[in-house]
Amino acid sequence: MSDVSPSRRLGQAKLVERLSVDTHRFHGGHKCERRVTAERQQQTPYLDALCEYAERRPARLHVPGHKGGAGADPGMLRAFGERAVSLDIPALTHGIDVGVDPTPFEQAQRLAAEAWGARRAWFLINGASQGNLAAGLALAHYGSEVVIQRNAHSSAIDSLVLSGLRPTFAAPEVDPELGIAHCLTPETLERALAATPAAVAAWVISPTYFGAVADVRALAAVAHSRGLPLVVDEAWGAHMAFHEELPEHALALGADLVISSTHKIVGSLTQSAMLHLGHGGGGLIGEDTVDRAVTLTESTSPNSLLCGSLDAARRQAAVHGRELLGRTMAALVQTREQIRAIDGLDVLDDRLTGRPGVFAYDPLRLAVDVRGVGASGYELAPLLREIDDINLELYGQNVLVAVFGMGERGLPEAERLVAALRTAVERVGLDPGGAQASFAAPPPWGELAMTPRAAYLGAQEVVPAAQAAGRIAAESLATYPPGIPNVLPGERLTAETLAYVQNTLELGGSVRGASDRLLHTVRVVVEAGRT
Ligand SMILES: Cc1ncc(COP(=O)(O)O)c(C=O)c1O
Repeated sequence: MSDVSPSRRLGQAKLVERLSVDTHRFHGGHKCERRVTAERQQQTPYLDALCEYAERRPARLHVPGHKGGAGADPGMLRAFGERAVSLDIPALTHGIDVGVDPTPFEQAQRLAAEAWGARRAWFLINGASQGNLAAGLALAHYGSEVVIQRNAHSSAIDSLVLSGLRPTFAAPEVDPELGIAHCLTPETLERALAATPAAVAAWVISPTYFGAVADVRALAAVAHSRGLPLVVDEAWGAHMAFHEELPEHALALGADLVISSTHKIVGSLTQSAMLHLGHGGGGLIGEDTVDRAVTLTESTSPNSLLCGSLDAARRQAAVHGRELLGRTMAALVQTREQIRAIDGLDVLDDRLTGRPGVFAYDPLRLAVDVRGVGASGYELAPLLREIDDINLELYGQNVLVAVFGMGERGLPEAERLVAALRTAVERVGLDPGGAQASFAAPPPWGELAMTPRAAYLGAQEVVPAAQAAGRIAAESLATYPPGIPNVLPGERLTAETLAYVQNTLELGGSVRGASDRLLHTVRVVVEAGRT
């Protein structure tokens, strides 16, 4: 196998200078310069290069073995379409990602950086998960400790395992009514950084699954005041750069490294994502360091369909995003009103703004508060599937979450959701007391006895949960709701936490990360002198 990454990135350093000039123009500057930038954003150099290669019918004496269709299973060709298979072209193909500099691949990444206002953008083929893995590995070049938001995505925790970073966890605000986790406040970050003098960065999440957006400008100021970079996992916020009524996005607010799950709302193909290096922070994270980390975490055979979809989604967002998002937001205003008009239901919306940990709200998530009806979110979700094949992004005890993409037109799905919710509520009835039901906050997490890496890689054994209190966990336990990990590898298990997780399971909740989903047993570290 060839080592594709360095070659694919050859010449990128040279582009940075020009890129930073272009980016400033796109986000301000003279009208005429903006027009030039907007015209450039119409282009899809990488996607075009793929099409050109497929159309000229070259002798494909390279992988993949399907040879653009000739060697493919007919069922696969029928399912995917001949065209898609012909565009599955490997890396290191002349005229696509090698050849005259800048190659179409380099141009495409450069356009992405320009569109989002980044110093540099990397296309990722293993999702925002890869972005988190790369971020941790990049940070580990600067030291061994990091302050990270407790409800970081599992890939960020995996990154701690890979990088060996020792985390100081900062707790997000938990909504006492809804039982969901919001964002980290600047005050909490300040305290966590003060307690971690050796930290090399602050690492936060915004927006959350439920649409809460953090005060990223203030978080960046807190980190920068200590000379540290701010890493923002903005997996759910790639669209926010493209409409002025949406909350401002992290790069515009001074974040230094931003993880973006482009496929989630902007609509590139599943598993495609981007990592952006910001202009802010005065070069607190080295571009070459990030580049090496991206290379280490990626396949040597990056999928051209994924990268092509990123090029196309970037164009769609930069050229039509404002109009598309405007339409989707308007339709969602109407949908929220219709749902609120159903007895027993409410929706999360801008009214959340101002609660602890909610600086702004991203309206592209439609979170339905079901506490007023006679069934939990766990019961309603299958009922909605049964009524009209409604498939949700996420559901918990109190909330159902439907996700809307940037480019949805007319939102017929929203109408289906409203109609199905109406039917579901008629069937299950109301529970007027439910809306007052308070949420029991999870117990505090246990002492970090060793790094997640040491716990993950060290000797382990599986013990009955009833005997696990006091032992060091070798796996995560994260109950939903609210999705804040109760236990992470390296932390000492407490009887309180084990009881809390068990209780959540009994109430119909779920636990992620556990090797035994029913928590009869737990995987723990083998400690000398302890069995
Ligand atoms: C906050 C956050 N970060 C990262 C990820 C990983 O994204 P991906 O599925 O693109 O790898 C997710 C996925 O849901 C997420 O919610």
